[in-house]
Amino acid sequence: MKASTRLLGQPVSRVDGRAKVTGEARYAAEFHVPGLIYGQVVSSTIARGRIKKIDASEALQLQGVLQVFTHENRPRLAWFDRSYRDDDSPSGSPFRPLADDKIVYSGQPIALVVAETFELARHAASLVRIEYEVHSHETDLRARRDKAYVPAQGKDGFEPPPKPRGHADKAFAKAAVQIDAEYESAVEHHNPMEPHASTVIYGDDGSLTIYDKTQGVQNSQKYVSNVFNLSKDEVHILSPFVGGAFGSGLRPQYQLFMAVMAARELKRSVRVSLTRQQMFTFGHRPATLQRVALGAAQDGTLEAVIHEAVGETSRFEDYIEVVVNWAGMLYQCDNVRLDYKVAQLDCYTPLDMRAPGAVLGVYALECAMDELAHRAGLDPLALRLKNYAERDQNKDKPFSSKELRACYHQGAERFGWARRSPAPRSMREGKQLVGWGMATGIWDAMQQPSSAKAVLSIDGKLTVSSATSDIGTGTYTVMTQIAAETLGLRIQDVTFKLGDSSLPMAPMEGGSWTVASVGSAVKEACEKVREHLFKFARKVEGSPLAKARPEEVVFTEGCIRLAAEPDKAVTLTQAMRQGGVLSLEEEALAVPDPKQLQYTRSTHSAVFAEVKVDEDFGTVRVTRVVSAIAGGRILNPKTARSQILGAVVWGIGMALEEETAIDQTLGRFMNHNLAEYHVPVHADVRGIEVLFVDEDDSIVNPLGAKGLGEIGIVGVAAAIANAVFHATGKRVRSLPITLDKLL
Ligand code: MOS
Repeated sequence: MKASTRLLGQPVSRVDGRAKVTGEARYAAEFHVPGLIYGQVVSSTIARGRIKKIDASEALQLQGVLQVFTHENRPRLAWFDRSYRDDDSPSGSPFRPLADDKIVYSGQPIALVVAETFELARHAASLVRIEYEVHSHETDLRARRDKAYVPAQGKDGFEPPPKPRGHADKAFAKAAVQIDAEYESAVEHHNPMEPHASTVIYGDDGSLTIYDKTQGVQNSQKYVSNVFNLSKDEVHILSPFVGGAFGSGLRPQYQLFMAVMAARELKRSVRVSLTRQQMFTFGHRPATLQRVALGAAQDGTLEAVIHEAVGETSRFEDYIEVVVNWAGMLYQCDNVRLDYKVAQLDCYTPLDMRAPGAVLGVYALECAMDELAHRAGLDPLALRLKNYAERDQNKDKPFSSKELRACYHQGAERFGWARRSPAPRSMREGKQLVGWGMATGIWDAMQQPSSAKAVLSIDGKLTVSSATSDIGTGTYTVMTQIAAETLGLRIQDVTFKLGDSSLPMAPMEGGSWTVASVGSAVKEACEKVREHLFKFARKVEGSPLAKARPEEVVFTEGCIRLAAEPDKAVTLTQAMRQGGVLSLEEEALAVPDPKQLQYTRSTHSAVFAEVKVDEDFGTVRVTRVVSAIAGGRILNPKTARSQILGAVVWGIGMALEEETAIDQTLGRFMNHNLAEYHVPVHADVRGIEVLFVDEDDSIVNPLGAKGLGEIGIVGVAAAIANAVFHATGKRVRSLPITLDKLL
């Protein structure tokens, strides 16, 4: 039985587009009930120490202020003694707001002021007086790097660096061409447009209906029920729309805890939303210091790869991400040593941010490759092709598919790479130095167990559901396409539901695995419905399908047809009448095929960037980017392209603008607002071209799609940094490349 509406692969516009642009789509802080009250979080202004005294009397005197929760009057919860870890927790002891008087980072939530109105809560929060006992803190990664250690391997999916292979240090020492450089990346914050918020609707029976900003409604549900010792039936999490997240919504955040606590204590419905400044108080992309040493023969053949990274973590959890492993799999090399450590700072635990780890490690590796090409007198693209890895040497496994070579060729062609003049400072337009740089990108193509339910009613309308989320990536749309295609329906006949903890099980939306995981479940559930329909259809009186075999029919336009004679058909309605059913309901759990384990499954990219650097002012403009992506089958080229465009824009930010600066004296992020935390604006973004190369993969999942949420950002910062070198002859090894570093 084949589907042939050919919706997959089509640039279908977002099914939720209208709701989003008209404001019909509502976000966590936009749900209202009569009697809703508001909580405002008070944040610590010191990085380390103790609360000596909290004086909330002035706030409490205001009419309409209902309560000020602090560590002194918060409810007793078993959680404060026995820690519960969420689905994205690293190993360690998750931060518990209001647990005690200890301050472990600047910005830590230390009180919640609850009032009848939002404005009153905000004002009252400013009246809470806190006396601290200040202890000394350490927030400087450079100063702490000597104390870095190999972290515990506590997080699912984290792969520690592979064991060394060959003799990297010896091979490096003997290599004809050597590069040994240190790269540095800055702290970045996610800053989605929608700040974190939770609206808790308190039921008469004490049950909780919670609108939460999250990438995983069932993760939030498990968290709330565990932390507050409630049954899952008493906790219903909803998150129909998410205004961006990029990893910031993977872990339940403290506003959720605060809002639930207040609702249960006051027996009222409560909303807690964070201010933009408070969006800088939980989780960030960690700063890293990385050494990359590459040794090569004179012709560019890699003989040694050494990549050592130190990332930051908090005092209470070991945040770990895959930073260095990529250096052992992106290029063919028999002598490799990879090393990853973390150093504890008095900051909050870092948090996954779009392509966590890869963005950082590949930045350093790909800049070092550019340095190597320059020193060896080779074209940077030719160097990559020369050392192309046909197998994953880290694991000694083949790739399930790898069309990176096509990315290099097609990207270079589109960009015009062949016209590059190799010498730095050799291309210019008047006072603008022109630079062309390139880099490779890589990310995992993962699948997680997921479920979906499909319900087809006799009027030909299909509803499919799963507890996944749509963080802006296009989940609603692509799932609708998969379902419609599988049952031969039109887009408008299918409704996809998500963002509801009561729906069939789905993992957090992360890791670029949603299409592969939830999409496979949607396909399976719809295929089960299809089987029933076919059985019924064969029995319809005078059915042209009576003797048809499953592989001889297609589902199109609400009919089951003979593929060879499409006029011979039974409508879905006729089939269901025959079966005596008004609706058909099927649920499927899709799990990864064990054969996947024999392969390394990755997405790849080749990124080409052009910059223009003003010779007098040192200002850098990224004038052109071509991103060529190998991401398996592209189910929707429109939403897929949008993913890559957004990721390239963020890559521009990472390369040139984004940095959360710490005042080391105060141990505090200083530019915690969108005026001083710079992100690319329209004027910073010029031409971006996205290419998807053909890539056929029957291993990764039944859809052959690899996921595109993250690959688009990997390699962008390196391509831009390499272009800046080509333009100026100056190698800046510290991100972001601001003009003070360039002049
Ligand atoms: Mo992504 S950082 O797994 O949301």
